[in-house]
Amino acid sequence: MTRNLTRSREYLARAQQSLVEGVNSPSRGAAVYAPGPIFLERGRGSRVWDVDGNEYVDFMMSFGALIQGHAHPKIVEVVSKGVAEGSHFAAATPAEAEAAARFQRMVPSAQAVRFANTGSEATMLALRLARAHTGRTKFLKFEGHYHGWYDPYCLNGHGHPIEQLGPPENPAKIPDSEGIPASVFEDVIVAPWNDIPRLEAILAKQGSQLAAIITEPIMANMGCIPPRDGYLQQVCNLAHRYGALFILDEVVTGFRYAPGGCQQFYNLKPDLSTFGKALGAGFPIGAVAGPRAILDRMRWSEHMVLHYGTFNGHRLTMNVVAANLDLLSADGGYRKLFAIGDAAIAGLRDVFRRRDVQAVVQGFGPMFQVYFTTRDAIHDYRDYCQYVDTAKFSRFVHRLHDQGIYMTPSNGLHWIISTAHTERDVEALLAAADQACAELS
Ligand SMILES: Cc1ncc(COP(=O)(O)O)c(C=O)c1O
Repeated sequence: MTRNLTRSREYLARAQQSLVEGVNSPSRGAAVYAPGPIFLERGRGSRVWDVDGNEYVDFMMSFGALIQGHAHPKIVEVVSKGVAEGSHFAAATPAEAEAAARFQRMVPSAQAVRFANTGSEATMLALRLARAHTGRTKFLKFEGHYHGWYDPYCLNGHGHPIEQLGPPENPAKIPDSEGIPASVFEDVIVAPWNDIPRLEAILAKQGSQLAAIITEPIMANMGCIPPRDGYLQQVCNLAHRYGALFILDEVVTGFRYAPGGCQQFYNLKPDLSTFGKALGAGFPIGAVAGPRAILDRMRWSEHMVLHYGTFNGHRLTMNVVAANLDLLSADGGYRKLFAIGDAAIAGLRDVFRRRDVQAVVQGFGPMFQVYFTTRDAIHDYRDYCQYVDTAKFSRFVHRLHDQGIYMTPSNGLHWIISTAHTERDVEALLAAADQACAELS
């Protein structure tokens, strides 16, 4: 290690006295960032600085929340003005109407939208709506997909040895957390992703009991695994054949691949879709969008679908959402995200080839992941569990940290391009990757 991390280590010791592992989420602690996390203090554009003054190009971007990079001048202006007027009223505001109108213009399936505070809240609400709408309880999720930390979603979301996964036609249910009653998982059916024949077989047995099939459009919690051609449309058709809703979880992909997210990019018509992350440009947000026939179930009545929340439609956040969506609607933003991302992907592939490192770079445009593997591609969770050297990825990223590149060492996440990234940042990444490869071999 060449950087000075003295103050990061001091902060870790201090934070550990009052926080579990010194952090507020296990994905940020020493288990991922061994021997300890880098304590970040400041960000601007594509850059962050740690408490020891080390500068990094940030390719994690708050797990994708920072689509405009750090401290975008427009966001800073909106927040500074808004906070001086009162941050939140938990009452009707013009701010939420403005944010919702912009959201509706951009997301094709949004006859209506409901704002919450996190992606987890959004997926929680989507499932409740689906259950109310269909009168059914069970739902289907895919292996390796993450939809937040609500009880029924918390299974088969972490990597495990292949022997533990059970047969793909009937995957073993592996809880991601203690403290969830086993009975919760009786209502969950798990299927392998990117595999229509196996999904058809599972649905033939249990499809008529399903309220919903929920899927990420691009599998983003085992790195970055794109869907096979036509796969998502086939999943949607199958859901409908069995009377289930098709829920597209766009918490990662929303507002990233196109103004209308992956539903626009892949020309899909989900019954419900969920959003978070990039929608809030760094502020806590979640959203559920869909047709009136489903969302209106939340109207006040004896039989309503309940969704309360003191911070729903948080005024300051709504101001940020509106400003962020205006910025994203301006011409050229998505072209730039794709150009920078594709240059980084092509450049990394070139570095690995020249350095004779067996690795694939998967994804396109604004999101991608590196897998150290002897395979040509990683198609699903089982490939990820069997063929990806996640420890090598962690070593690679730790070396990149020394070269001024910030990224999580967890292979399950993904590299994120924001509108703040430049060609210079890509050059810095490629030079650092080249050096890291030299040190790895
Ligand atoms: C696909 C997906 N859905 C839902 C969530 C939950 O979002 P949040 O962390 O905002 O609760 C995440 C978070 O990473 C996610 O990746």
